[in-house]
Amino acid sequence: MSLNLAPDEPAAAQAPTPAAAAAPALASALARTARATATATAEARAPLTPSALRAVVRELAEQPDQWIHLVRLSTEERWYQRLVADDDHEVWLISWLPGQSTGFHDHGGSRGAFAVALGELEELSLGGPEQGLLIRRVPAGTARAFGPEYVHDVRNTASGPAVTLHAYSPPLGSMAHYDLRAGGLVRTSEEGPEQW
Ligand SMILES: [Fe+2]
Repeated sequence: MSLNLAPDEPAAAQAPTPAAAAAPALASALARTARATATATAEARAPLTPSALRAVVRELAEQPDQWIHLVRLSTEERWYQRLVADDDHEVWLISWLPGQSTGFHDHGGSRGAFAVALGELEELSLGGPEQGLLIRRVPAGTARAFGPEYVHDVRNTASGPAVTLHAYSPPLGSMAHYDLRAGGLVRTSEEGPEQW
């Protein structure tokens, strides 16, 4: 007895489908693919939530082997490098020497989060009329997350360097800077990715 595991004419079992019969099936398949692609694209472009971004930076901050060899320190300005550039979010690694700060800025409508992996930062933001200026200590092991309208100033007021992980979704498209004056925050300039 012999088993015929490799039929001689496998193609014969798949007789060519007449074009007229195949066309509706093909059109239907293409439509399904187009719908699936559109859905996948929409899902890929949906921004991550602040809490999802916080989870991203927290997890990375706990894995220094992923980025510690990349860290540089710059006396000129904060040093930064992008670690992830996806359609729906990006992740940056930033180092801060004592005294280095961002100044008040927004994130161009992106949601964001940052985690302090090494050192300690201070974050300033404006609360409601009752609260005024809020100052938060953000030590190593902690993270902050924020929505698309958030404006803050982050600074290293400690005596040693700090290293942080930042995630934004959608990826940053612009960033406006503000001055804190007696009447509140006044927008002073805007920068785009070409300046980063
Ligand atoms: Fe920021």
